[in-house]
Amino acid sequence: MNDKPVTVPDLLQMKAKRERIVMVTAYDATFAAIFDNAGVDALLVGDSLGMVVQGHKNTLPVTLEHVLYHTAAVARGSRRAHLVADMPFMSYQVSPEEALRSAGRLIQEGGAHAVKLEGGQRVLPQIAKIVAAGIPVMGHIGLTPQSVHQLGGFKVQGKERSTAHEIVADARALEDAGCYAVVLESIPAELAAEVTDRLTVPTIGIGAGARCDGQVLVGYDLLGLNPGFKPKFLKTFSDLNATVLAAVRQYAEEVRTGVFPAEEHTFHAKTLRLVEDLPEADGPERVYGVPV
Ligand code: KIV
Repeated sequence: MNDKPVTVPDLLQMKAKRERIVMVTAYDATFAAIFDNAGVDALLVGDSLGMVVQGHKNTLPVTLEHVLYHTAAVARGSRRAHLVADMPFMSYQVSPEEALRSAGRLIQEGGAHAVKLEGGQRVLPQIAKIVAAGIPVMGHIGLTPQSVHQLGGFKVQGKERSTAHEIVADARALEDAGCYAVVLESIPAELAAEVTDRLTVPTIGIGAGARCDGQVLVGYDLLGLNPGFKPKFLKTFSDLNATVLAAVRQYAEEVRTGVFPAEEHTFHAKTLRLVEDLPEADGPERVYGVPV
């Protein structure tokens, strides 16, 4: 792995060379820096932030301002990974013009390198408009969480012949409209393999089997920060929930028993007189600012 920023042509090359693409979601500068140092190829500021950061049941309450805020934080934390910002619900559906304005803000104010939006043939005018402005677009088909109410829940898509054909047609239409990559979410592995073989742009799977050109997972999920969330497609690569729980319990115990802070965590005034010389305190804030 070198230090050069990962670009759209790099990702296309990776498909051509059959090198798998690694993408993970991030929402803040700290995790972005860790994932970037781990060598992931792409970071996605997903609207999954509605669930894992904001505590909602789905992605629908997430706004463009929310994604902008988190994208800017991730941009500050990362230096090598290709940075994709999700276009949230109602930031692109109304018109191609509004879609372009939203995408432009994610690039200009958020520092994203590309945007992702959900849907197949019904969002082609939006994709064409954004791509024509020089902004790379990642498509997203299969289970599209912004349509959760229409789909009747978070269910595997494309299990019947007709819906499978529709997904293949959508994938080709996205490539023709100029998408440089397509996320395939929660579809049978055989269908994902078929789509992957038919496209020249990379497919990035989540719950779509091993034959996609790359994989994406929600960062919090792969780290085991979400212990109640156990869908079939997810592998947890750590148990950070248990690690964080144990660490914070120990911190609480040490504060309560006076073990923390210890001598090595404590500042002292250079001379005792410095403290004695302080004027009468008006309130606690006067003492808090004691120089050392
Ligand atoms: O919002 C998100 O995190 C996503 C990925 C799961 C693909 O769209």
